[in-house]
Amino acid sequence: MSSIALDFGGGPTIYSLITASARVKEIHFSDYLEPNLQEVQKWLDCAPDAFDWSAFTRAALVLEDQDYSQNGILLREEEIRRRLTRVMKCDANNPLPLGKTDIQYDVLITNFCAESSTEDRSQWRLFIENITSLLKPGGKLILCALKGAVSYSVGKEVFPAVYILENDLRQALFEVGFLKDSIQIESVPADRPSRHYQGLMLAMAMKSASI
Ligand SMILES: C[S@@+](CC[C@H](N)C(=O)[O-])C[C@H]1O[C@@H](n2cnc3c(N)ncnc32)[C@H](O)[C@@H]1O
Repeated sequence: MSSIALDFGGGPTIYSLITASARVKEIHFSDYLEPNLQEVQKWLDCAPDAFDWSAFTRAALVLEDQDYSQNGILLREEEIRRRLTRVMKCDANNPLPLGKTDIQYDVLITNFCAESSTEDRSQWRLFIENITSLLKPGGKLILCALKGAVSYSVGKEVFPAVYILENDLRQALFEVGFLKDSIQIESVPADRPSRHYQGLMLAMAMKSASI
């Protein structure tokens, strides 16, 4: 294992790192909001008031067919803490989304970030371009996005989102340098009809080696 992965716009969550930590050498984590970064840092520090991710860790271990006992969960969470070496601020609106750094990642994970951070389609397209510039030529993208969204909610707060469908995502990824044949998108319907989005899109793609 020699690769380095970045979670871009990870929010206050570490769920995407549970399986990633067993597959990469190192993980970097980023978000736009300082309170989100502090929440993740609390979990890393095992602070008593940190969110308990163990039910999610257990679910991931079950899906991976790995030991999901208390000890198995503890070992995987230790592995995440060992491999997560950087927690930093990011901004998808900046052509240098991590500030001045020449690091390019082998694996880029970005879940519900670009389409959930703007309601403007051309800004979403720019976010996708900026975010994916952090991936090495030949690197792998793992992305989840809301499908057909007008908004999404967290608790009682409602946030705007960009309305995109599979073809919009496929086209944007192709235009920013992903190999056409490598782009795989699967969708699942929203869990409740009352959601202000149709479903979730799960995408994987490989960046062209010649970019
Ligand atoms: C819907 S949340 C998704 C968080 C997490 N990835 C998840 O799956 O739960 C959207 C995230 O995008 C971040 N965000 C908002 N504006 C951003 C920007 N300009 N650049 C990068 N991230 C941004 C927010 O701080 C928030 O954590």
